[in-house]
Amino acid sequence: MRRIYITHKIPEISINLLKRKGYLVEVNELGKRLTRVELKEIFAKYDAIITVLADKIDEEVIKSASSKLRIIANFAVGYDNIDVLAAKRKGIVVANTPGVAGEAVAEHTFMLILATRKKLLEADKYVRQGRFHLWDPAAFLSYQVWGQTIGIIGLGRIGTYVGHIAYGGFRMKILYYDIVRSFDFEMLTGATFTTLEHLLEESDIVTLHVPLTADTFHLIGRKEFGLMKKTSILVNTSRGAVVDEEALILALESGEIAAAGLDVFEHEPSVPSGLTTCGKVILTPHVASATYECREAMAKIAAQNVIDVFEGRTPFGIIKVS
Ligand code: GLV
Repeated sequence: MRRIYITHKIPEISINLLKRKGYLVEVNELGKRLTRVELKEIFAKYDAIITVLADKIDEEVIKSASSKLRIIANFAVGYDNIDVLAAKRKGIVVANTPGVAGEAVAEHTFMLILATRKKLLEADKYVRQGRFHLWDPAAFLSYQVWGQTIGIIGLGRIGTYVGHIAYGGFRMKILYYDIVRSFDFEMLTGATFTTLEHLLEESDIVTLHVPLTADTFHLIGRKEFGLMKKTSILVNTSRGAVVDEEALILALESGEIAAAGLDVFEHEPSVPSGLTTCGKVILTPHVASATYECREAMAKIAAQNVIDVFEGRTPFGIIKVS
């Protein structure tokens, strides 16, 4: 009988789909991250593993897999937590859950843009602390988002949705940077394809939507902060390591940029005190895709990826590596 291990509780639908096929499914119900030793034991035992992005599946873990292991199905869109090449060398398929997080992450991105720009947390604290005694025309002034220039770095599905909210909702001018140009996107939103440098120099809001790869590691660092406007804000809902976190803290402290809205961190779940004590940032715990709709869709795809491999089909979420 096929045995599947799920490293963290995910929506029941996954388990039901797999059980309906007669597979034996075990779930880590403890709500704690598995240790490397535990991961290695699991890799040695099961035919399929559904992982989450907190699991670091490196070459050493993959080497411990038995020849039975057919697929690592990541319950995530990103898959930078898995050494895909090492898996390929062992003949193990790696799959993700593509195409389902665009709406949720775009919404969260805009929430961070608005909350950061409009100093939501400070204003909320001010009221709760009983400091709202008199209406003050100069209190909590901010630049409006409407009509400003947004720089979208990475025009995948999420970046595209962010662009549609920016254009349709806030009449923003859009600059974007990617490895490919999208004429459709330009036609629909009036966006301009540009260089990273120009985007950083011109944007009032810079938002990141690239996957984490060797090419995007520390894409935004000291030099890039130096190019940004002092009034600009940076929003990151992609992966923490796309930004050099130390350089970001320096940029905030020195006033090189005005503020940041961050859902992801370079060494998650650890968040440096330079960010947690900084009044210019809004922080959320990597939850941009955390909507019921998105999680449900991710669960279905993760399970289907496993079923497809067992039934001899190419899974929808297969990660192709050359
Ligand atoms: C979340 O960050 C994901 O990659 O699904």
